[in-house]
Amino acid sequence: MNTNTSLKNKFDSSSKTKVVLLAEDLIKIYKTGESETQALRGVSLKVHEGEKVFLIGPSGSGKTTLVNILAGIDKPTSGKVFWGDLNEDITRSSHEEIIRNRRNYVGVIFQDSKLIPHLTVEENIRLTAHYANLDFEETERRLEFILKFMGIWDKRNKKQNRLSGGEQKRAAIASTLITNPRIIIGDEPTGNLDIVTSSKILDLLDKINVELNVALLIVTHSQLVAQRADRIIEFSDGVILAQHGKDIRLRELKQTRELEIDRQNRIHIPQSILEELNNPKHFTINLENKKIVLKPIYQQEDENENNS
Ligand SMILES: Nc1ncnc2c1ncn2[C@@H]1O[C@H](COP(=O)(O)OP(=O)(O)OP(=O)(O)O)[C@@H](O)[C@H]1O
Ligand SMILES: [Mg+2]
Repeated sequence: MNTNTSLKNKFDSSSKTKVVLLAEDLIKIYKTGESETQALRGVSLKVHEGEKVFLIGPSGSGKTTLVNILAGIDKPTSGKVFWGDLNEDITRSSHEEIIRNRRNYVGVIFQDSKLIPHLTVEENIRLTAHYANLDFEETERRLEFILKFMGIWDKRNKKQNRLSGGEQKRAAIASTLITNPRIIIGDEPTGNLDIVTSSKILDLLDKINVELNVALLIVTHSQLVAQRADRIIEFSDGVILAQHGKDIRLRELKQTRELEIDRQNRIHIPQSILEELNNPKHFTINLENKKIVLKPIYQQEDENENNS
């Protein structure tokens, strides 16, 4: 299959649909004592209605930091985040405003369920609805539909800590869906499940995506998960390095990589290519037949190193 065409079609068709999540120039610096970690170094992205976007990248590259900021759980050092048609930058909203607004826009699923262990599935979902200020009628109207949609109607009176891992995950997703979000953000949502249970949860997320038109933004390290994406964002060292279309192999990313130009016209060159070229610090740049040609320039000491 031609990945370039599929990615282009995806962008073209999605550009006509509404944006459910928009991030501009996110920077996050963690300060601990004397040391600073720049976890995000200028990240901008858009997710459209009904899109299925997955986020991949090495450990420590900033994926969790990014999704926590996008979900309003953490604040960036600078940059903006917009949810759907909500006309305000949520990085400037108070905690109360975020909780109130999140219900119509963003659902979050974590690796470990955040539901209360000694409450039943139904009680947990009602509690989420209560915190999100959902009125009684709306909660009643959605509760049965969602429990049945998630296949846990018959488990509704069981306590959360008496459920299997897969059922706990279904309950957690159900509690996210009660508030009718337009996008679900998940940080390795199936990371702690076995392959069979994990596949079932991924099937459910697909069903939520297709039948309820909820967009997905999912962080993953797993080939099994990544192969279900419409579009994959490759993260590296706090920036978006590249995008990939469908059908990628996580071990052979360079075959499908389309480098991303950010809002400041910057492109990041993959580390593996720089290493192959012996880490040059400068390049000449030329346009040749509408292709950009970068030629490495080696300083005197670099050349000595390369020749030795
Ligand atoms: N609360 C924190 N305080 C200080 N540094 C942090 C904090 N959280 C994350 N970091 C640092 O920020 C960087 C990005 O971390 P992050 O957890 O976002 O990476 P990740 O891509 O999610 O990694 P993984 O795939 O292992 O989950 C790392 O260098 C990490 O050590
Ligand atoms: Mg992480």
